[in-house]
Amino acid sequence: MIGKGGAGKSVISGTMARVLARDGRRVLALDSDLLPGLSLSLGAGPDPAEPPLNDAAEQDENGRWRLKKGIGPVRAVKRYATDAPDGIRLLQAGKVPQAGLEPIMGSINAFYRVVHRLPDARTFDDWTVVGDLPAGPRQIAFGWAPYADTYVAVVQPSAQSALTARRVARIARSRDGARAVFVANRVTGPADVRHVEEMIGEPVLAAVPVDEAVARAELLGFAPIDHAPDSAAVLEIERLVTALADE
Ligand SMILES: Nc1ncnc2c1ncn2[C@@H]1O[C@H](COP(=O)(O)OP(=O)(O)OP(=O)(O)O)[C@@H](O)[C@H]1O
Ligand SMILES: [Mg+2]
Repeated sequence: MIGKGGAGKSVISGTMARVLARDGRRVLALDSDLLPGLSLSLGAGPDPAEPPLNDAAEQDENGRWRLKKGIGPVRAVKRYATDAPDGIRLLQAGKVPQAGLEPIMGSINAFYRVVHRLPDARTFDDWTVVGDLPAGPRQIAFGWAPYADTYVAVVQPSAQSALTARRVARIARSRDGARAVFVANRVTGPADVRHVEEMIGEPVLAAVPVDEAVARAELLGFAPIDHAPDSAAVLEIERLVTALADE
């Protein structure tokens, strides 16, 4: 999931992960945003103060981070991912604590190494991996989602959001074999959808309506799919999952 800040990446990726898991898929949710988001929309509860993945990394004599001996992607997911509803496993790079980045450097480094080795791990061949990236182009450009074969650019009806989505989609498409699709979020009707499509220059795969239930879920601290499973937004995200599978 990629796009501008606040476009709806976490709501859509968290809900997609839940829908996929309920469809019977094994789901690995990857959270590389250093600020909160995905765990809430997954319904996984508050983020841990210290990321479990901190334990997976160590520094060599030159201070360079590496995975501890014997820890590859399979073991990392087994030991350091946490449980989310519907059997989802959630692996997080960690959230920035008050003290700054220092306390989570091990986890950030471990996460980067683990996701780079994911594509080679046969164990995950029949899993569906859903990643929530932070806003903007940096993580895509620096290869934080090498596991992705499809990037979903989330765009809300604003010129800035559309410009960002177009740019991040272009970077994603420049990666070998990767495709990028657009999803409109917070639309108020067909005119909004047309407007978004005009701004990005291509059709969107889904258009998630602005939905009071999503905002209320956030306010109450629930996942949208738990608080309002029949809401218009959740139903459209279900349609998006089907459309992605059909593509
Ligand atoms: N369709 C929607 N209807 C109503 N509110 C929504 C909708 N989608 C998202 N929101 C609300 O908008 C806010 C931003 O959504 P979200 O956190 O998913 O965006 P994001 O792209 O992940 O943001 P960030 O860049 O900060 O990670 C949240 O408060 C969320 O509840
Ligand atoms: Mg987010």
